[in-house]
Amino acid sequence: MDLVRLLNCLADGNYHSGVELGLALGVSRTAVWKELSKLSDVGIVLETLKGKGYRIPGGVDLLDRSFLMNHWESKGLSVSRFDLLQCVDSTNSYLMLDDKDIENGEYVVCMAEQQTAGRGRRGRVWHSPYAKNLYISIAFNLIGGVDALEGLSLALGGSVADCLDSQGVGDIGLKWPNDIWVNDKKLAGILVELKGESGDGWRVVVGLGVNVLMSDIEDGIIDQPWISLIGLTNETSLTRSLWGALLVDSLITGIEEYKSEGLAGALEGWRRYDMLKGRMVEALSGGLEGLCEGVDERGRLLVNAGEGVQTINAGEVSIRPNESSS
Ligand code: BTN
Repeated sequence: MDLVRLLNCLADGNYHSGVELGLALGVSRTAVWKELSKLSDVGIVLETLKGKGYRIPGGVDLLDRSFLMNHWESKGLSVSRFDLLQCVDSTNSYLMLDDKDIENGEYVVCMAEQQTAGRGRRGRVWHSPYAKNLYISIAFNLIGGVDALEGLSLALGGSVADCLDSQGVGDIGLKWPNDIWVNDKKLAGILVELKGESGDGWRVVVGLGVNVLMSDIEDGIIDQPWISLIGLTNETSLTRSLWGALLVDSLITGIEEYKSEGLAGALEGWRRYDMLKGRMVEALSGGLEGLCEGVDERGRLLVNAGEGVQTINAGEVSIRPNESSS
């Protein structure tokens, strides 16, 4: 039996009897019961009440493939392929291993309900529970030499921040180069990976992880302050699918703008969300500590350590605001 079909029957959070589920899915009550017992494997809590049946408290919000495709199509985005997976080690690894050609100007999107080995920057683990958050990767070709990549990380952070802002999320901060924070807690992160030179440019894989419905249950697993989108906007229609559709839309639109204008087009927007400027910062490797003076035209971090302003390149160091951990 298909776990997704069963979950869709229970998605509303109401009680459904074994008979009703069996009829809806065309299987026996025993088969339903067997499948239900697997839900705990993916971390889904099931309540059983005698005489009423089964329910998932709070329901479950699964990604909807047709909804996502229709949204991107209606916006005229060139998504040439969309792989929606139930479970994968990492959506970034999945697209990094993918050898199929991508035409210039086209985008391959992969999303998963769960990652078993989600990867963050600097070798960190990205906690990826089933049907709670968004795990998105986008592969595309970027024409040009290594210069073309400079600033891409920042531009992507700006696109995600703009998307969240447009849906009413307040107090968004970008922590250089592209961590997305709200209320001094991490909401989302971006991992940019290069597959290597491809013809006249680079094959790039951009991975975005956004906490959407993750609750305190996960506390203790993640080693930094974090926050989820739930409760951050008054908009109740924002399902995970709608967030996924909007975020991919914003990322692809941002990448297209970046291709034509470079970082210059995105820098003003990025600076609006800069959460480090004016704060004491510390480069974790290199031991540089000082007052952050924002970013320069190339997206490098400016730190005044007392002996003049020093620039830090993306990818070389990590920055930790002294007042809060990262
Ligand atoms: C970070 O802030 O450290 C970056 C986190 C990036 C996580 C996303 S989730 C989708 C994609 N697949 C991965 O394994 N990582 C990225």
